[in-house]
Amino acid sequence: MIDQNVFGMIGLGTMGRNLLLNMADHGFKVTGYDKSEEQVKFLNQEGKDTNTTGTIDLKSFISSLKTPRAIMMLVPAGKIVDAVIQDLIPLLDKGDLIIDGGNSHFTDTEQRFSFLREKGIHFFGMGISGGEKGARFGPSMMPGGDEKAYDVVKPILEAVSAKVNNDPCVTYIGPGASGHFVKMVHNGIEYALMQLIAEAYELMQTGLKMTDVEIGDVFKTWNNGRLQSYLMEITSDIFQFKAPGDQKILINYIKDEAKAKGTGKWTSQEAMDLQAATNCIDTAVAMRDLSKQKKWRLAADKIYGDARAIDINRESFLKDLEAAMYFASAVIYAQGMEMLYKASEELNYHLNLADCAKIWRGGCIIRAAFLEDIYQAFQNKELQHLLLDAAVSSKIKATHANARNIIAEAVRSQISLPVFSAALSYFDSFKTKRMPSNLIQAQRDYFGAHTYERTDKEGIFHTQWN
Ligand code: 6PG
Repeated sequence: MIDQNVFGMIGLGTMGRNLLLNMADHGFKVTGYDKSEEQVKFLNQEGKDTNTTGTIDLKSFISSLKTPRAIMMLVPAGKIVDAVIQDLIPLLDKGDLIIDGGNSHFTDTEQRFSFLREKGIHFFGMGISGGEKGARFGPSMMPGGDEKAYDVVKPILEAVSAKVNNDPCVTYIGPGASGHFVKMVHNGIEYALMQLIAEAYELMQTGLKMTDVEIGDVFKTWNNGRLQSYLMEITSDIFQFKAPGDQKILINYIKDEAKAKGTGKWTSQEAMDLQAATNCIDTAVAMRDLSKQKKWRLAADKIYGDARAIDINRESFLKDLEAAMYFASAVIYAQGMEMLYKASEELNYHLNLADCAKIWRGGCIIRAAFLEDIYQAFQNKELQHLLLDAAVSSKIKATHANARNIIAEAVRSQISLPVFSAALSYFDSFKTKRMPSNLIQAQRDYFGAHTYERTDKEGIFHTQWN
């Protein structure tokens, strides 16, 4: 009995294999299953000096696990997840735990959770962030499901996760599909931050006519200050990278059409349902879509002409740009947190927003120095919106004017800054006592008798306008 495996992994692609090897490094006896003999061979090779074994036999995989069993699948989201669940059901006992570690849509997770609960099997939807390297050396993980079942895997997940100030970058997120929901929002934030950094690149390359090396140096400098983040770090690397044996900097030879697996789009779709205003994320999704319309862009360039250089002092502009990046990144995170706040209420996820920020401080793709500020802000359990926090708002007050400067210059030079602009527009609306939405209400009532409320009297009103 003592010798049984404490954790099983289904799907031994790079992510599954790396996470299993990470567990073995931390002293856990673990096992992996894959249909492919080759993947099992890889695991057995890489894990030959560890407490890891791989098999292509599902039954022996299951019987080698200590009960209640903890089994994670890292397989492509969608039908395969359901197929694996169906294969597992006859082999499992009540009280066993299945964890879906992929990027499944949270509504699928919700259904699987209910379906398996009827059978007495626990199900966790767990977002894992950090890519292949994160899985191997410390990811950020977002598990959601039955709180009691979490106890079985807590020591393993805490041991293998990234650590910040000795705190593990994993915690029980909440019931049902909350883990996958939080990971989805993480990815929405990821999309917006990536687009924001790409816009800064465009400003430096087209607007300031800077070289790749100069641009890389700026990202590197920023990464040493308050903009420190994983995305900033890898971006500065990218601007130096030459493929082995090649003299060209690779970034200039990559097609400008951004692909997506869909998690950013899901975030926007869900934000609309929750009525959370996430225009930075929506815009980032739209820009990936527009980037794919290369034919139209080439044709439009012939008709309308392209962006121009910005005639400005480079040094002061770059100072503005750094502050504008800080401002817009803060707004992006604020929108993600706004969405989590709404989901917590609407979907009964009872999210602890401070905990969400805490486990994003390390291991994940959106890890950044600013997450410490978010973590501190949401220690105040009454805080509803990040931009209303005293410490955050003083930083926002100090940077929004810089964002105005760079956006104004870019607009004059026809350089597109959709996410910078979305962040600023959101902010300007957010801090407005009175939005022009009274006019929208009047128009709705005019053409459709949709009624309106008044500022001077209680009640619901309709007017015969013409
Ligand atoms: C992570 C990443 C990861 C994946 C994205 C890519 O947190 O480790 O978010 O989940 O790289 O889903 O998404 P796109 O292919 O849609 O850009």
